[in-house]
Amino acid sequence: MLKVNRDDKRPLWQQLLGQAIDHITHGVWKPGQLLTPTRELAQQLGVSRSTIQIVYDELLTRGYTVTSGRGGTRVNDWIQIIDKCAPSLDPPQLPELPLLVEQSQHWFRSKDNQESVIDFSPYQPFVDTQLLKVWRKSYLNASSQFNVSSWFYGDAYGFEPLRRQIQRYLSLERGIHVQTDQILLTSGAQHSIDLIAQTLLTKGDIVTVEDPGYPVAWMTMKYRQMNVTPVPVDEHGLVIEKVPADAKLILVTPAHQCAVGVMLSEPRRQQLLHRAAQQRAWIVEDDYDSEFRYRGDPMLTLFSQLPQNCLYLMSFSKLTMPGIRISAIVGPAEAIAQLARVQAFTYRHLPIMEQVALAHFIEHGYFMRHMRRARNIYRRRHEVMQKAITASGLGNKFTLRGIETGLHVLLEADESFDEDAMTLRALQGGVRVHQLHSYCLESRRKGWVLGFAKVDERLIVEGMYRLAETVL
Ligand SMILES: Cc1ncc(COP(=O)(O)O)c(C=O)c1O
Repeated sequence: MLKVNRDDKRPLWQQLLGQAIDHITHGVWKPGQLLTPTRELAQQLGVSRSTIQIVYDELLTRGYTVTSGRGGTRVNDWIQIIDKCAPSLDPPQLPELPLLVEQSQHWFRSKDNQESVIDFSPYQPFVDTQLLKVWRKSYLNASSQFNVSSWFYGDAYGFEPLRRQIQRYLSLERGIHVQTDQILLTSGAQHSIDLIAQTLLTKGDIVTVEDPGYPVAWMTMKYRQMNVTPVPVDEHGLVIEKVPADAKLILVTPAHQCAVGVMLSEPRRQQLLHRAAQQRAWIVEDDYDSEFRYRGDPMLTLFSQLPQNCLYLMSFSKLTMPGIRISAIVGPAEAIAQLARVQAFTYRHLPIMEQVALAHFIEHGYFMRHMRRARNIYRRRHEVMQKAITASGLGNKFTLRGIETGLHVLLEADESFDEDAMTLRALQGGVRVHQLHSYCLESRRKGWVLGFAKVDERLIVEGMYRLAETVL
């Protein structure tokens, strides 16, 4: 029997419907049972007949009841009775994720949750409230300038005005002269690499990566079941003669090797370009922090020398803030068209708001102003770090590498260095550093990768002295 509860704040029909469903699903009202006629039930409960009618209509619509030919409403015979005593059913089983997924998290964020440390994470740029205030201007402007059509499904290549800004920037700053249909916007380098794997490669293709190298790149390629072949890196960059003759794609960070920090030398560049052209392979040129060069101008890109074989990756993570999640793949128009087709199929396109804001941010000069400011800050921090490495004595224990460009340096150790133990000791001493080991596939090179972009000068000095205490 249904009951009216006057304390229940819900509308009458809702509470009666809830009780009726409960009675049906728990077998109080049996399958096939005829329901009390509406008029009679309304009288019993002291409610209007129309309220009961709503309840009965809703039960019928939801399939709890059926109307029989002879008139009247019965409980549906197909109702599955819930057994109150039965143990709760298990949810669907989750597949075991490849170890790579876990590993990539370790590389990105160390396992500890210690907050009060001097953190030399290599992937964090300098971000402050001044930058956020300017970004807010662009964001507010973007939100007030919209026309309705911007909110429909957009272009898989990305917001056209933003691609135009990127086109201009690349032409002025990186010597890359392309049309906007040669630029596809993505949500970070990892997304770019994944899209390239999905679109331009087939399972089992040989993909050459730098060893040590950018873990996200080789992990993504492995995840997509490519035949990932590590190639060593020496003081001139990737050792090109070790690149297999049947490699379909060669991933490089020529301006500032991730993680060793060296620049790809001119002879190696020529060798690489020759090999790629000869074996019709793709070069994926990850140009993630080349804009921050401390001696001379940024290096010429590989793309500008062999555009038909190169996919140039740029990302706004280091240039502005990683949380924006906007990056680009630049390449031959046909390859970009293919990537855009898969992008449309798998992701559709990036969220519009950030794209409009970033276009405004660049167009109104805020971006270049931030870059000039950031360059000065990085130059100072870079200098302070180098001096502190020498003054603290770390320079005697390690070989300092990768100081020409970028936002990290490498302190390379010899083989006897106990990287795990020392990294833990450093953390206990309040300093977080990244192990070179986590960038390695087959390489046995050891040391610490030190990002200095988000650590102020005082803490850089303190951090280097604390590290020196750990190892000397
Ligand atoms: C080698 C390398 N490439 C690219 C990126 C940019 O990554 P994303 O665009 O996914 O933020 C980083 C960031 O740390 C990097 O280290």
